[in-house]
Formats: sequence, structure tokens, C-alpha cells
Amino acid sequence: MTSPFYITTPIYYVNAKPHLGHTYTTISADVAKRFHSMLGEDSFFLTGTDEHGDKIVKAAENENITPKAYADKISQLFSDLWPKFNIDNNHFIRTTDADHIAVVKQILQKIFDSGDIYFSEYEGLYCFGCERFYTDRELVNGKCPDHDTKPEVIKESNYFFKMSRYQQWLIDHINNNPDFIQPERYRNETLAFLREPLEDLCISRPKSRLEWGITLPFDENYVTYVWFDALINYISALGFPEGDNFKKFWPQACHVVAKDILKPHGIYWPIMLKAAGIDIYKHLYVHGYWNIDETKMSKSLGNVVDPNYLQSTYGTDAIRFFLMREMVFGLDSNFSEATLIERINTDLANDLGNLFSRVLAMFHKYFNGIVPDVSPGVRNGENADLFKDAQNTIKEFKDEMQSLKCHKAIAAIWNLISKMNKYVVTTAPWELAKDENQKDRLADVIYNLLEGLRVIAGLIAPIMPQTSLTMQKHLNIVDENVLSTLDRTAQWGTFETGTSLPKPVTLFPRIDTKKQKDKNQKKNNQKKTDQTPAKQDNPEKKSLPGLKPEISFEDVLKLDLRVATVIHAEKIPKANKLLKLEVEVGDEKRTIVAGIAKSYAPEDICGKQIIIVANLKPAKLMGVLSQGMLLAAVGDNETTIATIGKIVPTGLPVK
Ligand code: ME8
Ligand code: MG
Repeated sequence: MTSPFYITTPIYYVNAKPHLGHTYTTISADVAKRFHSMLGEDSFFLTGTDEHGDKIVKAAENENITPKAYADKISQLFSDLWPKFNIDNNHFIRTTDADHIAVVKQILQKIFDSGDIYFSEYEGLYCFGCERFYTDRELVNGKCPDHDTKPEVIKESNYFFKMSRYQQWLIDHINNNPDFIQPERYRNETLAFLREPLEDLCISRPKSRLEWGITLPFDENYVTYVWFDALINYISALGFPEGDNFKKFWPQACHVVAKDILKPHGIYWPIMLKAAGIDIYKHLYVHGYWNIDETKMSKSLGNVVDPNYLQSTYGTDAIRFFLMREMVFGLDSNFSEATLIERINTDLANDLGNLFSRVLAMFHKYFNGIVPDVSPGVRNGENADLFKDAQNTIKEFKDEMQSLKCHKAIAAIWNLISKMNKYVVTTAPWELAKDENQKDRLADVIYNLLEGLRVIAGLIAPIMPQTSLTMQKHLNIVDENVLSTLDRTAQWGTFETGTSLPKPVTLFPRIDTKKQKDKNQKKNNQKKTDQTPAKQDNPEKKSLPGLKPEISFEDVLKLDLRVATVIHAEKIPKANKLLKLEVEVGDEKRTIVAGIAKSYAPEDICGKQIIIVANLKPAKLMGVLSQGMLLAAVGDNETTIATIGKIVPTGLPVK
């Protein structure tokens, strides 16, 4: 028996239109839900909108409509957007729903009755953007760190929630459950918050100041603070307290949020649940920000990317893939259309798309589209090329997906794709086809490739459901649920001799970068693609390097050398000297192309700390944008990477 699975996104404020950040979180949750469904788990996925509070009132006033009319309008933009990205949520909750309001009141009353809510006068610094009081310590130069505005002094009587009572309990819980908050950096951040005494939380707003909220059940002159209202959505949507869904799914709850709302989710929410006598959630997964030019994409800054535009320009699956592949879960990522196009052309059109159409084209050419008879060892996987690779990939994929490390799960699939592409080159079916004695071998090779494609179609299903389906249709495996579970995907030898398969289609057309480049020129991305390759591309040119011309100390200072950690490495097809490295430099993730493939296999370098030139202008090498260069000792026959003597924090400058 598999256990059920419950996943949620934040419910988004309806004070502005959805942007790429919201889209990323929602797709992450959708991928997790689809993955768990693939494991045979009964899964429930919740998203929705957060509609009360000051922000919404202000936004509505600007448009001269009521808060409810405004909330209806914006909430609709979210619920209309999700189907475009193939989001398969089970429910869409709105905090203005009557059943949600009833549950909020019930929980407030319960905590009030048990004595954890008290009434008191308070004077403090209030940020209207965040809708909360700030302590001096939390301000940066006297300003709200999120909104960069000066908070106002407000003195009023309010209801407070005794969070301090539960501080030690929460610290113990986090310490005893290392995977409660993931990745680890956010667990540590939460524990760091908890090292300072917790202040009680002001959970009411007087109606004289704000009417748009849920009236407190024990004082009708007040409405509920928006966070106390919003967090409860995660249980009201399941029909708390008696609903079947609540009983079934709540014990398995996983929340996905970005780091902006770590505190309410990592601290307020577990304490609220504890005070109300409800079991706390199981996991909190925290991701970083999508940035534009290194600044957080946010509606208050107005630097947002419109997901509707991206979807209609590049397609649903390409965007789902890009967002999941490009961001290391937990770290920030910089968004650029140039990188998006790069990934579409390289990973999708080239690696996956070409493999798919090439294999099926050969299958049609050599076998008229009819599955040939193959050796028994191929059918049962015992003696099948690619079988072991496929099994290893499935295992790695599963492990990474379990903890939402989608970027790594995808890298594992692409590793298999690259092995298959290599297999095509080394087995050279076109040569086998010339030799009548090699007909059996040719059949085995093509059969192995078909099985490999089937595995890939299965593994990409949570990430690119539509592409997976298209591939399945062309492999004639749609209707028998062959791919509905991971176990079935892992089988081998599924194609029956004599069955026919349809002709291939183009999965992902290449994007004409010229057209896009012209468009992007103003956005300063153009230069990145026009540079000559960085030096490490042809290291052996100077086998006896003479001393270069003298430079000044100022020139040396221009170099920004940093320690970076290699988190993934792979070969670049058709470039036998180059490795593509994904590295972490401080909080940032980068791609670096390095001419070290002759001395290092990808697995040799993965996990190593290297030294990079971090301020080198990005340059494209063999179609891959390299954002920096690695330092290495370059010998005639061997290249040796420069490393630091012991493990140090990534991002440290090297001087
Ligand atoms: O905080 N990069 O709503 P919100 C990545 N209503 N993700 C981003 C992002 C970015 N640049 N910008 C926003 C609220 N997000 C509350 C939540 S939950 C009980 C109440 C995503 O509209 C990310 O998931 O400000 C972030 O946590 C969320 O949107 C904040 O959405
Ligand atoms: Mg926000």
C-alpha cells in the first residue's frame, strides 16, 4: 500500500497579475503531484488565492471597484492561467470562500478558548506593504527590507497570539526532524530566527482601519490578520475537521513556497497548528527567487515576466522544462529569454527531439515501421545494451524527485539521452544496414533504442506531460497505461514483434535565434552570443607558453576569482574536449564550459571545488553559454584543474 500525497503552493495575493515566480512554484508542485501519482500514490494538489487584507483594498481603490469585485477579477487570472501550463490541481481555494471563513473562525475560537490569544495595547512600526509590525532589529536603515519604505508608527489595541510559549517545542521539532524544512539552508535560517526570543503575533486589525477580512469570532470590532487567515487554507480546503480528504491527506502535507514566506510557514504555521491541537505538516520545501538582472522579480518592483507571453511564444512544455531544469531548487536563478531559447534548442530540439525522430526514422527505413524479431537476451533485458543505463537513470530520477530536486532528476534523464545519442553513433545502424549478416544486430540495436525512448517518454511525463503523450502515441503505448507508473516504465522488452508504429513528428522545432536576438538586442543579451570562444576551448595551442606582456596590479585586481562547487557535469555532444559544468558560486548557479573532457570524466569532477574567473563575459561554446572559466594547469597531454586545499564555502574570493 502506498501512502497518499498532499502538496500545496502558497495562495497568491490578488493584488496583481500572476508572473513567472508564481508559475514556477505552481509547476514545481504540479510536477511533484504527477510524480507521486506515477508512484501509484493517491495525490491531492492545492493552489488558490489569498484575497483579504490591506493590499487588496488599496489595489481595488486604485481601480475604483470593491475589494470583492477586484479579488474576483484577479483570482480569475490565476485560475485561467494554470490550465495553460497543464496544471492538474484538485482544488482551487479562495480565502473568500464561505467554508474557508468558517474554518478560520473555528480555529481562532479554539485557540482563544485555550488561552493562547490575549488582548493588549501595542505601539509599533508597521509596514503596510507587508501588513505587519516590524521590530527595530528587522529594519534595514530604518526601512522595511522588502519594500524599502519607512514603516509608520501605529498605536492600537489588538489581539495577540502567544507564539513565545511554543518556541522551544518548535526548535525541538526542527532538530528532531531534519527533513522538516528543506533544503537545509532554510532549516538553518529558521533555527537562526528561533535563536532570538519569539515575539507574540498580532493577529487582529481594528475594523476602524481595515474592514476587508474575516471578523474575529470573539470580537466583531476586529478582522483577522491576513496571514492567520491565509495559512489555514491548507486545512480548510481539505474539509477540516471531519472531511475525508482532511483525514486522508493532511498527515502527508508538503508545502512548497519561496524564501520570502519562510517565516510564516516555518514558524507561525506550525505553532498555530500546535496551539489548535492539530498535527503539524510533514515537509516544507523552500525555493529561491527568479531574478531579472540579479533583482527579485516582483510585482511591487514591476520587473515581472508575463507567463502568458512565454506560454504562447514557446509552448507549455518548453516553459515547464526550462523552469524545472534551470533553477537549482533552493537557489536563485536569473531569467533571460536567451537562456530559455538556448535550452529549448539544445536540450529539447537537439538532444531529445533529434534522438526521437532519428530513431523512429531509422526504424521506418530499415524495418518499415514494424517491430522486428530480436534476440531473447534483448527482450528480457539480460543482454540488452542501454538496459542498465535505463535502470540506473530511473533510480536516480526517483531519488531526486522524492526531495523535489527536479533539476537533478532532469539532468539524469538527459544523461540517458546523451548515452543513447552516443549509442547511435557507436553502433552506426546505417553501417549495419549495409551488411546482410548484420540484420539481427541491427534489429537488436533499433529495438534497444525504442525501449530507451519508451523509458524517456515515461520519465519526462511529470515534467512535460504533453510531450510524453506525443512520444507515447508514436510508440503505440498510450492506451494500456504502460507509462502510468514508474514500475511499468522500468520494464524492458515491451514491444511485440510485428506491431507497427506511426511515423515520427518533430517534438520541438528549433527557435530561430536570429529573430529572437534582434528582439533581445536592446535587452543587452546580444553580446553573449557573438564572442569568440573563451581561452580554455583550445588550451593546447600554446604548448610552450612564452611570458605574456607585463600587466599592472590594477589589471590583476580586475580578475574576480571565486571558489565554485561543481554540482553537475556532462559531456557536450560533438565536442570531445568540452565538459559542461553546472556550478554553485555562493547563492548563484552557473553553467561553465571547460576544455577538460580529455582529462576528466563528468563523474570525476562532480562535487569538486574549483576556481573560476567569475567576471568573465559570458561566451557561447558549441551552443552552450559559458558564464565564466575554470582555472587549470594545462600540460601537453593532460589538464589538471586548480582546486583549494580544503572544503571552503562556495563563492569565496581567491586572491
Ligand atoms: O506571499 N521567484 O503571496 P504572493 C520565485 N499570499 N517565486 C516567486 C517570486 C520570484 N521572483 N515571486 C513570487 C503571498 N513567487 C501570500 C502567501 S500562503 C498561505 C500566503 C512565488 O502573491 C513564491 O511561491 O506574494 C512566493 O513564495 C509566492 O509567489 C508569494 O506570492
Ligand atoms: Mg509577495
